[in-house]
Amino acid sequence: MSALDVRNLGMAYGGTPILERVNLSVAPGDFCTIVGASGCGKSTFLRLLLSQERPTRGQILLDGENLPPEPTPDRGIVFQRYSVFPHLSVEDNLILCAEFAAAPLTGRFFGAKRRAARATVDSLLEQIGLAHARKRCPAQLSGGMQQRLAIAQALMMKPKVLLLDEPFGALDPGIRADMHELLLKLWDEMKMTVFMVTHDIGEAFKLGTRVLVFDKIRHDPHDPSAYGATITYDLPLERKRHVQPPETINELIATSEEIPAHA
Ligand SMILES: Nc1ncnc2c1ncn2[C@@H]1O[C@H](COP(=O)(O)OP(=O)(O)OP(=O)(O)O)[C@@H](O)[C@H]1O
Ligand SMILES: [Mg+2]
Repeated sequence: MSALDVRNLGMAYGGTPILERVNLSVAPGDFCTIVGASGCGKSTFLRLLLSQERPTRGQILLDGENLPPEPTPDRGIVFQRYSVFPHLSVEDNLILCAEFAAAPLTGRFFGAKRRAARATVDSLLEQIGLAHARKRCPAQLSGGMQQRLAIAQALMMKPKVLLLDEPFGALDPGIRADMHELLLKLWDEMKMTVFMVTHDIGEAFKLGTRVLVFDKIRHDPHDPSAYGATITYDLPLERKRHVQPPETINELIATSEEIPAHA
């Protein structure tokens, strides 16, 4: 588990601001769900947390230290789809993660290292319910099973922070409910700090201990791309878990008694 502090973060692409003045302090073990309009910068925010890109302004601190300048095993990420290697079996997909993290240039594990990686793979496969499918390739798995594999890949290096970008967006509702249970179980067992982007407000409320809403505070009617988005609402959820979740972001904001994050 890790604490994360985001200070005055800004991100622009080619001079166009996408995110501006994002401030956030996350306690170890928080489960932050992120909602906001399409294109407002949610995936960009995750890429910055992963160090896949560098911010134009501001700082991100992980346990009080500046984020490493490149992705490191302390942060794992799962995308909506296509993050597994199609030509490798379930277990080889997982072993490759460990090999890649340990030695991106030299490659394969042998001997004791390979046995240790296999032991981690075995326990992860049990945890995510894919032990029976370990020899199959992704094309022989259902969408839900592929996403289980993608989650297992992200967990292979025991990250302190797990980043999820609409991980269940392509799954049927029934399968999604199973994945929610799985994710909450893993979060509880592995004691991670989680950031999860979703378009589904119900999902954001069901899973999060905190919902972060990204939106623009300032608008220029003549130039829609003049300003970036920031966190406009930051809703702690513990005491609201029993409440019927709102269905849209506007309803969420309208019914919220919380003080807007930027106030
Ligand atoms: N590498 C890039 N170069 C230039 N512009 C980019 C780049 N990546 C993202 N953008 C722009 O930044 C904005 C935010 O993109 P981002 O993918 O973060 O949005 P999002 O909130 O995740 O949207 P969605 O909900 O549709 O996934 C978009 O306008 C996008 O076109
Ligand atoms: Mg996105």
